[in-house]
Parts: sequence; C-alpha cells; structure tokens
Amino acid sequence: MQEVRERIRKLARGTASVAIYGESGSGKELAARDIHTHSPRASQPFIAVNCGAIPENLMEAEFFGYRRGAFTGASEERQGFFHAAHRGTLFLDEVSELPLSMQVKLLRAIQERRVRKLGAQREDAIDVRILSATHQNLASVVERGRFRQDLYFRLQVISLSLPPLRARREDIPLLCEAILMRLRVDGGKPLISEAAMEQLVAYDFPGNVRELENVLERALAFSAGAVIEPEDLNFESLTPPESIDVASSSDMMSRPNADSVNKVLLPMCLPAHLAGIERELIRRALRQSRFNRTRAASLLGISLRQLRYRMQRLTIHDAD
Ligand SMILES: Nc1ncnc2c1ncn2[C@@H]1O[C@H](COP(=O)(O)OP(=O)(O)O)[C@@H](O)[C@H]1O
Ligand SMILES: [Mg+2]
Repeated sequence: MQEVRERIRKLARGTASVAIYGESGSGKELAARDIHTHSPRASQPFIAVNCGAIPENLMEAEFFGYRRGAFTGASEERQGFFHAAHRGTLFLDEVSELPLSMQVKLLRAIQERRVRKLGAQREDAIDVRILSATHQNLASVVERGRFRQDLYFRLQVISLSLPPLRARREDIPLLCEAILMRLRVDGGKPLISEAAMEQLVAYDFPGNVRELENVLERALAFSAGAVIEPEDLNFESLTPPESIDVASSSDMMSRPNADSVNKVLLPMCLPAHLAGIERELIRRALRQSRFNRTRAASLLGISLRQLRYRMQRLTIHDAD
C-alpha cells in the first residue's frame, strides 16, 4: 500500500492520463481521488463519472452538456462533465463499459481539448486531466474489439495497478486500523482480538477493501464489548443456504420459502444475507448464460440496466 501511495504522489504532479487497474473494491476510486488531491489541480473540481451507469442515449448530453432547446426536454442550458471538470480532473470509472460510438467522441474531445455542447455553434477549450479505472484487462477488451485502441493509448499513458487485498495481506491490519478509526463511535477505537485478526488475515476478500469495510462495520454492530471477536465476523462470500439452491432457469423464479429462512442461524444481518442470495443468483444466471448479460438479465426477470446496476452494487464481475 505504501508503494502504491508513493507512486501516486509522484504521478500526481504531472498531467499525463493515468489508467487505474484493479478488482472491484481494491481502491481504484480512492486512488484517483488521491492523485487529484496531491496534484496542482487539487483546488479545482474532481468529477467522477461511472461510465457503466449512464444510459447510452443520454451519454453525449451528460459528457458534453447542451444548450437550451438542443433537443426536446432541454429547457435549460446544462454543463456536461467536461465543462464541470475544467481545470480539474475527470475520472472515468468503469471506462471499459463505454459504448464504441461514445469512445470516438470522447477521444476527439480529449485529443482536441475542445468540447462542443449539444446545440452549440462553437466549441469551448477545456483543460482536464483524465484518469480512468476498470476492473477489466483493457488490453484484452481492445483485442476483442470492444474498446478502441487509439483511446486506450490515450488513457493509458501511465498505468497504475492496485493488487487484490489477498495479494497484500500484510496491509490488512493497517487497513483495519484506518477503517475502524473512521467507523469509531464515541468511546474510542474498537479493538480486534488476536484470533479475529488471524481470521481476517487468512480470508481471501473477493470484494477486497470494500468487503473488509463491510465485514468490520457488521462486526462492530455484533460485538458486545469493545473488542471484535471471531464470532463477530461474518464474511460475505459464505455460500447461502442449500435450500435456495437454484439449478434450472425455471427454479430461478422461486422464492426462498419459510423453511429456508428457518434454517438460517440468528443473529444475522438481513441486508447482508439478502445481498448474498442476490449475488449468488446473479452469478448463476451469468454462468448459465455464458456471461451473456442480456440473457442473464432475462433469466432473472430484470432489465439489463438493473442487472448492471446490481452487479456493480454487489461487486460482481463477469469473470467471477
Ligand atoms: N488504502 C485504503 N485505506 C482505506 N480505505 C480504503 C483503501 N483502499 C480502499 N479503501 C476503501 O475501500 C472502499 C472501496 O474503494 P474504491 O476506491 O471504491 O474501490 P474500487 O473503485 O476499486 O471499487 C472505499 O470505501 C474505500 O474508501
Ligand atoms: Mg469503483
């Protein structure tokens, strides 16, 4: 973590684009904010954009803004992300999710350093530093023809990789300390027993630092005393009960029955449990559809956008 931090300090000084790689929850957004705060642009805006969460038909308006009357419903002039980030930093999160048509337009804006609002006559000069992040291997997305190579080169002047938490277990105690400090309630910082820390360090954290945060937050809620013990830890990737096992697509529609709920041991955190069930069902639908998200969504009876949103919220990757 310290090595990463040192690199961040160094590359913060320049204006080169930085592409940040790492699994979900590994700290990409935090790293991007860190780069901005340690850069000469720190007093200017930092605009974070989740490229996977903007409907395709709104993308141009969101990125470039529009003039009043540019299209039906454009009753007011609006700034886009580029204008909003002027002189500051524009962070393109989940950049691999950008549709190809939008990639062309972004590349142009980045290259020319000029942006034209929808419906406007003239272009405005825009000065932004571009940071991007993705949990995918962008080079292989380029190979599969889903990402433009020219944009890829533009974004990745410098690349910064955040290792998964399980590859830097020595960070876990320090991270725990930092997270507990943030979560602390009046009465001081809660402690972690030696046995609990052993379990934390041994666990694989598929959800990385975000999962560690969740585990600690829950542990705090469960712990009776000022010390977090092993029984306070409820790791997220525990497989949900057998009784909601879903083998075929028709079963996908069935709901967990009262029986399956009875088998669950209390105390347990309802939102975390439901998230576990949701995650498992989404993973199965993805596997069953061979990672075709459109088909997975229809298996689950939800829209593609809802699936994307839920996958993001639950930090599920296709590759899982
Ligand atoms: N080094 C760190 N120290 C403290 N908290 C961290 C660290 N790295 C990540 N986090 C926390 O973990 C969570 C996930 O980080 P985030 O940057 O959103 O990950 P990503 O964008 O890769 O999914 C955030 O709440 C963040 O504050
Ligand atoms: Mg993120």
